[in-house]
Amino acid sequence: MVYRFAKEREDYAHYASGKVFYNLPGHPAFPIRLASETFQRCDAVRKARGVDSPVTLYDPCCGGAYHLSILAYFHWENIAEIIASDLDSSALAVAGRNLSLLTLEGLAQRMQEIERMEASFGKASHQEALLSADVLRARLISLSAKHHIPTRLFQADALQQTADQGLLGKQKVDLVFIDIPYGIKSNWITPAAIQAGEIDPVWLLLENLRNVLASAAVVAVSALKQQKIAHAGYQQVGKLKLGKRQVTMLMPR
Ligand SMILES: C[S@@+](CC[C@H](N)C(=O)[O-])C[C@H]1O[C@@H](n2cnc3c(N)ncnc32)[C@H](O)[C@@H]1O
Repeated sequence: MVYRFAKEREDYAHYASGKVFYNLPGHPAFPIRLASETFQRCDAVRKARGVDSPVTLYDPCCGGAYHLSILAYFHWENIAEIIASDLDSSALAVAGRNLSLLTLEGLAQRMQEIERMEASFGKASHQEALLSADVLRARLISLSAKHHIPTRLFQADALQQTADQGLLGKQKVDLVFIDIPYGIKSNWITPAAIQAGEIDPVWLLLENLRNVLASAAVVAVSALKQQKIAHAGYQQVGKLKLGKRQVTMLMPR
């Protein structure tokens, strides 16, 4: 894959899942460089349509909200707000912890937590995590001096016709970035009709999202390469392939 924006192979070690950021057990962490490239390509699509404002970023299958939190650290200036939802309450608990790391208070609490683990177990990994937390803190001080990124987290079924619309109220979102369940370790939590194979969950997800998209909104869906990501109400505006993953970028017609 040719990177058009995230051209430099940066050292992302300080941002690794399970170090300072919390890991969602059973879910592979989203690759940071791919997340960054996807975000920037979506932003470029919006700009080509004449829209250049910071985005309200939404993930209706947020899991631990790792890639949303990472995107904030790397694209702070281009993000106005982060909204995250998931059906699984244990995922939401992790998401809340990760999104708290976008504030200095939340990061300070995380550092105290790691310090307590370091004092109890004396592991080298905890010392390394504290060094990484220092790097994140320095970055967050300079980022949060520019503006604060509000975050909103709620429980919702992305496959229910009205769930997204109801919980977002009248709010519209500019960029949806979803890492959908792959069906290996992570599965759709689905109504019976989908389990019976009568309805494609990806189609239903995209159908529901149409209610909450702002004009010139872009939807990026990360999935396994063999999954078909299509809906007649959307046009494809980009595609990335990396390893077993594909990221399909769509705009509503
Ligand atoms: C691949 S994981 C997302 C991981 C996330 N990108 C991260 O960085 O932590 C997919 C998520 O979809 C959620 N999910 C499955 N079915 C859902 C549904 N019907 N509505 C909302 N979320 C659902 C799962 O609970 C899981 O957290």
